[in-house]
Order: sequence, then structure tokens, then C-alpha cells
Amino acid sequence: MTEKPLLRALKGETLPVPPVWMMRQAGRYLPEYRATRAQAGSFLDLCYNPELAAEVTLQPLRRYSFDAAILFADILLVPQALGADLTFVQGEGPRLSTITSAADLAKLGPVEDIDEVLSPIYETVKLLRRELPADVPLIGFAGAPWTVATYMIAGKGTPDQAPARRLMYGDPATFEALLDRITEATIHYLLQQIDAGAEVVKLFDSWAGALPGPVFAKYAIAPAKRIVDAIRAKHPDVPIIGFPRMAGGNYLPYVQATGVQCVALDTSVDPAWAARELQPHTCVQGNLDPLLLVQGGDALTKAAKAVVEGFSGGPHIFNLGHGITPDADPDNVHRMLEAVRG
Ligand code: CP3
Repeated sequence: MTEKPLLRALKGETLPVPPVWMMRQAGRYLPEYRATRAQAGSFLDLCYNPELAAEVTLQPLRRYSFDAAILFADILLVPQALGADLTFVQGEGPRLSTITSAADLAKLGPVEDIDEVLSPIYETVKLLRRELPADVPLIGFAGAPWTVATYMIAGKGTPDQAPARRLMYGDPATFEALLDRITEATIHYLLQQIDAGAEVVKLFDSWAGALPGPVFAKYAIAPAKRIVDAIRAKHPDVPIIGFPRMAGGNYLPYVQATGVQCVALDTSVDPAWAARELQPHTCVQGNLDPLLLVQGGDALTKAAKAVVEGFSGGPHIFNLGHGITPDADPDNVHRMLEAVRG
């Protein structure tokens, strides 16, 4: 069997048609996802139910011919496994117990214990490897330490990550010890996903763009490099996708210093710049504006073709610049695939 297109792109091959998948491809824009979530009870019950979590990963693949599947879970399961209280409030997003002092940090559990909570996730990975079509590779994932820390410190999502930045300035020792704990837990978690069958892993640093320039290297690049190095030491063949969202001019140093096989580009990145500056070093993934899957029409077709064209000179995985939104029209995904594959 010829190798899976996604894995070929991740090895640096320029393919005539890029492999395609979508961030949040299993999600609320699909009625079958909403039905399975209701059956599970809550979003977290769904994440920890291997049969149902595997089912929602498979749902978008029944509708669309994507070139990859992504594990169904959440980046905030790692904080929960470390001992943070976590709930998802309908319509409001995540709520966690907060970490604002050394005393709060001391209440977290050791990295060795996280599998007590996370073992159902490894079970989902095993089920998926049995059930996925042979040509569809499975992507495992985790949040990057800075992004996960922003939620653990604030106890919720914030527009500018001010609580995390304040701890970084006000109590750097606690802040760094927290990043360190998350980094170690993330290495363990991703290695377990790979042992269970994940063929690619992705590190989501969704709030990388909120880090001030002078500390980007220390708090986004260095932890990512530690994670990449630890995975590569045990599994040199498992490709890693990094997503330092909104990193702007820091995309290039991130790529060069971490050595990721692929970098995911957010919506703000100009393909002409990325083709010139990033693609010679690494495969790029992205970066259609997810709003076009709400809007549809000619704008969608034109923009999707422009992304393909813009990255046609090097290794590229077609994706969105961020996750598909709940108000997207499922039919527009077919239009996007037609535009990409012709
Ligand atoms: O299909 C997939 O992409 C795989 C599953 C996945 C989810 N979350 C499921 C999910 C992945 C890869 C994530 C990553 C994630 N989770 C990130 C990084 C990517 C990004 O979007 O920037 C972040 C920041 C989170 C944290 C998180 N999870 C928030 C802030 C929220 C609430 C906001 C929202 O979109 O509802 C979630 C909930 C969440 N994670 C949902 C899904 C499908 C929606 C939950 C629901 O069913 O109500």
C-alpha cells in the first residue's frame, strides 16, 4: 500500500493535491455530534467514554473524505488529571479551579498519577486504530504548556490572558514551576497516546500570540522543544505538528528552534510570506478562514483555491486557520473539498 498522503506531506513531499482535514472536524456543526453528546450526558462524559468518543471522531469521516482523523478529547483534560477541578458550562466554556500562588500549585498531584484519569483516552485511541479506514491516519494531541497554563491560572478563557501574564511577572517561580509540571505531564500523555496508536501528534498553543515578544522563546518555544525532543528520542518516526497560533513574526524562530515537521498557520498568516519564509524549512498546514464555512458561496471556493495555490510549491496540508464553528453549514465542507481537489 502506498503511504497515507498526510504522512507523505509530513515527510516533506509536495503532493499534487494536498491532504485535507479540519480543526474541530468532530463538533457541534454536525447534528450527529450533538446527538452523541446528548447521549453521553455532557462534553466531559463524552471525552471519557471511549466508545462514544471514538464514534464522534468517526462521524465527520462518514460524511467527508478527509485525509486524517483527530482523537476526540480536550486540552483541558491534562489539568483535570493533575487535580484541577474542571467543568464545562453550557454556552460559557470551561471553568477550572485557579492557580495564583505556590500554595495552589502545591495542591496539584504528581505527573505519575495522571493516567488514573487519562486511561480512557488511550482506550479511545486503541479503538480508533482498529476502526479507522486503512488510509486515514490518527492524530493525537495536547495543549502546549503556556496555553494550558492560561486556563489553569485564570480558571477560564480570557480575551488577553492577563491573569497568566500577571503571574508570570508577579511570581515567576510559581509560573515556571507550573509550566514545568504541565510540560512533563504533556510528554507523558503524548507518549501514551503514541503507544496506544496515535500516528501523528499536534501541540496546540492557541494563545501563543498573547505572550509578550521578549518571553516568546522562553515560554512558547522552549517548552515545545522539550516536548518535541522527548517524543523524538523515543519515536523518531512520529511527526509533530506545532500550532503557535497568532505567533506572527515568531513563527519562523518557532519552526527553526523546535524542529517540528509541520507548523499550523492561523488565519492571519499571509500564504505568500509563509510559502517564502516557512515552507523551505517545514510542511505548513492551514489556513482557510473558518468563517468561510459559514458564508459559503464563491468566496469560499475562491479562498480555498487560493490557499492551495499559495502553498503549491512545497509540502502542505490543507486545513482551517482555526476550528470550524458551530454555525458552519455542513454542506459548505463539501464545497471546500471540491475546491481543494477540483
Ligand atoms: O475535532 C477536534 O478538533 C478534536 C477535538 C478537540 C476539542 N478541543 C473538542 C472540543 C480538540 C483538538 C480541542 C482542542 C482545544 N480545546 C483547544 C485548542 C484548539 C483551539 O480551539 O484553539 C482549546 C483552547 C480547548 C479548550 C476548550 N475546549 C474551550 C475553550 C472550549 C469551549 C469553547 C468551545 O469551543 O465550545 C472547549 C470545548 C470543546 N472542545 C468542544 C469540542 C467539540 C465543544 C464542546 C461542546 O460540545 O459543547
